[in-house]
Amino acid sequence: MVVSETIAEARAQVAAARAAGRSIGVVPTMGALHAGHGQLIEQARAECAFVVATIFVNPTQFNQTADFEKYPRTFEADLAVCRNAGADLVFAPAAGEMYPERGFTAVEVGKLGDHLCGAFRPGHFRGVATVVAKLFLITQPDRAYFGEKDAQQLAIIERMTRDLNFPVDIVPVPTVREADGLAMSSRNLRLTAEERAAAPVLYRALQLIRERVNQGGSLAEAREAAAALIASADPAPRVEYLELVDLDTFTPQASVMMPSRVAIAAWLGEVRLIDNVRV
Ligand code: PAF
Repeated sequence: MVVSETIAEARAQVAAARAAGRSIGVVPTMGALHAGHGQLIEQARAECAFVVATIFVNPTQFNQTADFEKYPRTFEADLAVCRNAGADLVFAPAAGEMYPERGFTAVEVGKLGDHLCGAFRPGHFRGVATVVAKLFLITQPDRAYFGEKDAQQLAIIERMTRDLNFPVDIVPVPTVREADGLAMSSRNLRLTAEERAAAPVLYRALQLIRERVNQGGSLAEAREAAAALIASADPAPRVEYLELVDLDTFTPQASVMMPSRVAIAAWLGEVRLIDNVRV
C-alpha cells in the first residue's frame, strides 16, 4: 500500500493503474477509521482493481473551529484499517496541499442542503461537495463509496455527480452498527462512558418511528413517543432535529409519505451524532 501526501504523486499512482487497465475505486474519509470505513474499502476492493482511500480532515466543512480541532486524528491506526481492508493507495494530504490559497470557487448544493444538517451547519455541505469534487478530480475514480449513515451527504454527492457530469458511479453502503445498534461514527470516540451507554437510544427512537409509521400510525404521535424515549435516557441526548424527510429533496414532511427517511441529529455532551433509517 502506497501512502501519498501530494496531489502529484496520487495522480501518478492513479494514472499508472489506469494505464494498466485497472478500474479505480475511491473511498473518501476524514480518518478516525472504524469498521464502517473498513466495510466501504472492502466493498471497493471487491468491485475495483485499484482502491484509493483518502484521509483528509477537511477544514471547510466544519462550521465550528472547536469541532474541527477536536475531530479525532488516529493516522497510524487508520493506515492499518486501510491496509487490512485492501487499499492500494492512501491519499493523505495536508491542508496546505488541498488549499494552498484561499479558494474562490466552490460547489453550491442548492435546496438539498437547506434542511436537517444543512440548516444547523451553515456552509457544511458546500465544504463537503467542494472537497469531494476536488478528490474526484485528483483520483479520477470509476466508483466512489459513501456510507448511508450520512444520508443527506450521500444524496448531495449523488446530485452533484449528476449535475456536474462526473463520470463516477456513486455506491451507497449500508450503515454499520455496533452490537447495541449505535451507528458507527468517528465521533463515538469522543463520548464518555455514560454518553456511550445512552447513545443507542437514538437508533431505538428511529426504529420506533419506523415501526409505528409502517403500521399506519400517525407521524406526530410516533415522534412524540420517540422524543419521550430519548428524554428517558440518562444522560438524555439533546435533539437538534428528528424529521421524516422526502427522499429526493430531504424536505421535512408533516405527514407520512413513502418512501422516505427518518433522520435524527442529537448532542450528547459535546458530541453531535446523526443517524437515519429508511421508512
Ligand atoms: O463523510 C466524510 O467523512 C466527509 O464528509 C467526506 C465525504 C470524506 C468529505 O470530507
